This record gives sequence, C-alpha cells and structure tokens, in this order.
Amino acid sequence: TIERTLSIIKPNAVKKQLIGEIVTRINQAKLNIVALKMLRLTKEQAEGFYAEHQGKSFFDKLVNFMISGPIVVQVLEGDNAIKRYRELMGPTDLSKATAGTLRADFADSMTENAVHGSDSLTSAEKEIAYFFVDSEIVG
Ligand code: CMP
Repeated sequence: TIERTLSIIKPNAVKKQLIGEIVTRINQAKLNIVALKMLRLTKEQAEGFYAEHQGKSFFDKLVNFMISGPIVVQVLEGDNAIKRYRELMGPTDLSKATAGTLRADFADSMTENAVHGSDSLTSAEKEIAYFFVDSEIVG
C-alpha cells in the first residue's frame, strides 16, 4: 500500500551540509518527496513534536539539540514508505546501524542522529499534520 511518512533532516546534518546527500539517497531508494521545507523549531514546537518522550532522561538534550539550528522536514510517499524509510535511516542506536544507512554514515551520537522518520501509520499522520497543511503536499 502507498504510504506517507515524515522525514526530518536534523540540525547536525544540515550544519554538515548533508541535505543534498540525504535527498539523493531518498530518491535512490525510490521514495517520492511530495513536500519539503526548511524551518527552525521553537522550543514549544520541539517539545510538542516529541511529547511522547517527555519525562525521559534524554528529553531536554533532545529538545535543545532540535532547536540548535534549522531542520528540513519532508513528506515521503511510496509503497510501504514508513518501513522503507526506517530501513534507509538505520536504527536509533548507531552502534547497531549498518554502514550505508543514513545514521551509520551521518549520526554523531544517539541524540544527534541526523534524521528522523515516523515509526507507524498513526504517528506518520500526526507528524505530517504537525508540519504541513494538505495544500502543501503535492501528491
Ligand atoms: P528520533 O527518531 O527523532 O526519535 C526520538 C529521538 O530521541 C531519537 O531520534 C534520538 O534523537 C533521541 N533519542 C532516543 N533515544 C535516545 C537515548 N537513549 N539517548 C539520547 N537520545 C535519544
């Protein structure tokens, strides 16, 4: 089934000028970019986006990292897109990530892990709506 997922290129990857490389890999994986923008999160927006992690030991570090610079948010579309983009990213724990995945190649730490991708259909819908209105998604 055709799915949509939310991708974030995080501040460390934007700073290292990796936007182009990451977009290229997304296209090579045959995931279609149907929306894309660059923005800077406010503290409130970052806390809201990661609300499910509130109270965890890494929460403040995560929020401070996510507001440390501009990010790129994208909606990716394709067959089985949620799982396929997660495979392209590799696991959160970069010590477990295989070479060739975005995180193995570009993460600096567990927090500064270069990219985010939705983990389920429910979170994809919620996360896409967090950043985009329907008219910004070019299907
Ligand atoms: P992401 O896929 O954006 O979802 C939650 C984020 O929290 C994750 O990527 C990491 O950036 C961060 N994160 C998750 N687990 C840890 C952890 N154990 N220590 C530090 N940061 C974490």
